[in-house]
Amino acid sequence: MNNMSKIIKWGILGCGRIAYKFVEGLKILPDAILEGVASKTEGKAESFGKTFGVKNTYNNYEELVKNPAVDVIYIATTHNFHYKNALLCLNHGKPVLCEKPITLNAIQAEELINTARNNNVFLMEAMWTRFLPCIVKLNEFLDEGLLGEIQHVTANFGIKKELDHKVRSFNPDLGGGALLDLGVYPISFARMIYKQAPSKIKSSAYIGKTKVDEKSCYLFEYENGQTAMLSSSHRLIMPHDASIFGTKGYLEIPNFYHPSKMILKLEGKRKKKIRIPFKSTGYNYEAREVMHCLNTGKFESEIMPLDETLEIMKTMDILRSQWHLKYPGE
Ligand SMILES: NC(=O)c1ccc[n+]([C@@H]2O[C@H](COP(=O)([O-])OP(=O)(O)OC[C@H]3O[C@@H](n4cnc5c(N)ncnc54)[C@H](OP(=O)(O)O)[C@@H]3O)[C@@H](O)[C@H]2O)c1
Repeated sequence: MNNMSKIIKWGILGCGRIAYKFVEGLKILPDAILEGVASKTEGKAESFGKTFGVKNTYNNYEELVKNPAVDVIYIATTHNFHYKNALLCLNHGKPVLCEKPITLNAIQAEELINTARNNNVFLMEAMWTRFLPCIVKLNEFLDEGLLGEIQHVTANFGIKKELDHKVRSFNPDLGGGALLDLGVYPISFARMIYKQAPSKIKSSAYIGKTKVDEKSCYLFEYENGQTAMLSSSHRLIMPHDASIFGTKGYLEIPNFYHPSKMILKLEGKRKKKIRIPFKSTGYNYEAREVMHCLNTGKFESEIMPLDETLEIMKTMDILRSQWHLKYPGE
């Protein structure tokens, strides 16, 4: 950001787990100020405000959205609320950074995108991975043709959680299931690498007792025969690793959703470790992109464009339709 950048005042909508980590990241951005926080749960906004020294704490979202001093709102509620919360902000002309997945389905995402575009208001899905220095470098490598032509991608994301209907991971009312929560990362990753949506999708899912996907794997095929083999689970401990295979070699990316290193293997050469750490919690990079867009008058990010967000939601809709998985109200 240049010296002429305006200070950006952030509002936080929803004071849950991820909101704390995001604001931790904001702290290292000199041009970011935390202006206000809102939570519907009694006492949460006050306690959040106390932690970060914020005076404007609200027990409803409307007051935060109507505060003229707030430049942009970070939506950190569970997936099922994203659509309603983002619509509230966009209809009040407030720019939005919305947690992943942007909505439950493509219909909701499209409506948000149309509203943002019609109202000339900034909107971005908080796919923080895209903005991390290691992923920026990875994209440079691919653009330079380091790996040759990319033919195959693998990525897995599994976290073992105790089965509990009340928690968001397993609760259909809160948009539960591993696909929307974790699978969005491998899908977004493959979309970033291939710069297109898959033309064929094959998948298999285990729908558990709480009626959401506990485990699934998906095989994508693209126009020129390239492939991606991806999976997500809320019941299995999995290495969060991705690999990209090209005609000249491959790259392994441990912890691909927040990586700090890559392992490069080119044909005829030894494996090489490339370390590219990120600062703070890593959420600072997506926040910096939002602030850059606002300071340069952009209504969407070129790194996480809205059309791509919509395409990813459509891919997840196709997967869920293959599993006959619908959320309440759909
Ligand atoms: N980027 C990342 O690395 C990352 C990591 C984790 C999660 N996320 C995303 O961030 C979002 C929030 O995840 P989280 O783990 O922070 O969620 P969380 O702590 O369970 O809940 C976040 C907020 O959602 C509202 N909420 C939760 N359960 C509710 C219920 N039963 N009824 C009404 N409101 C409820 C509450 O808002 P109030 O405070 O207003 O009451 C709560 O503070 C999700 O969409 C998730 O995908 C992103």
